Amino acid sequence: MKRTLGLLGPLLLAALALAQAPAPLSPAEKEEAAKIYFDRCAGCHGVLRKGATGPALDPKKMAEKGVEYLKAVIFGGLPGGMPDWGRQGILKEKDIELLARFLLEQPPSPPVPTFEEIRKTWKVHVPPEKRPTKPLHNRNWQNFFGQVLRDTGQVAIIDGDKKELVTIVPTGFATHILRSSATGRYFMAIGRDGKASLIDLWMNPPQVVAESKPCLDARSIESSKFKGYEDKYAVVGCYWPPTMVVLDGLTLEPLGRVRIYV
Ligand code: HEC
Repeated sequence: MKRTLGLLGPLLLAALALAQAPAPLSPAEKEEAAKIYFDRCAGCHGVLRKGATGPALDPKKMAEKGVEYLKAVIFGGLPGGMPDWGRQGILKEKDIELLARFLLEQPPSPPVPTFEEIRKTWKVHVPPEKRPTKPLHNRNWQNFFGQVLRDTGQVAIIDGDKKELVTIVPTGFATHILRSSATGRYFMAIGRDGKASLIDLWMNPPQVVAESKPCLDARSIESSKFKGYEDKYAVVGCYWPPTMVVLDGLTLEPLGRVRIYV
């Protein structure tokens, strides 16, 4: 009897652990979790969870910490800069539970768009030859400010002389930063979703004249400022796929892509 129990003991424990382990995510749940993760977490922890400003979230390490710990951290945050998603009411309990289970599994690899697919995202709303040859308003456009309205995916243009709001232009999901072109005539915006927008400050009111989406996750854009190359090119720094994409400075046409690593 004693011997049988000796064998049964570890078996029972293993069965108990299995019963407590959260169920693997269904394909639909995985898709949902990946979307929330991409929107809310990838910016700090990386699309592939390898860490950025937040630590790497390795599935093995996450499993050791356990699903209850993960739920508590996602709900209440951590002092070192992890937001309290649940307490702030941004994520619901079911989202938190889903994310906690998602972190136990291997991260799905996001798709890598081909260069041809990237080129198809390119749209010119007003071609360079149809743009004004002088400003269509009397404001001092050289003293315009651009203010990123991140959560609404917009950019506010402000007249620095008059301290007036000139206009608000749509630029896309979670607009990240703005850069002024070399001549100062254009503002370039890049969204966290990789969408680049070119805003012509000479239009009345200023508006987006071209756009393209060189990647799925980006953080930076810059225009060429070297003498002889003013406003000729723009370059976008992408997190996913880890690339730099060179665009035409006046139309945002994708011209080339450099892989950084994969
Ligand atoms: C603003 C940046 C930021 C965002 C966005 C963010 N985190 Fe964090 N996260 C951090 C930082 C920084 C830490 C480390 C904090 C500390 O140790 O005090 C952390 C820690 C964690 C930990 C604990 C890791 C460990 O080893 O104990 C988990 C789990 C986690 N984050 C999950 C998430 C999830 C899930 C999301 C999305 C809902 C998310 N984080 C969004 C910055 C962020």
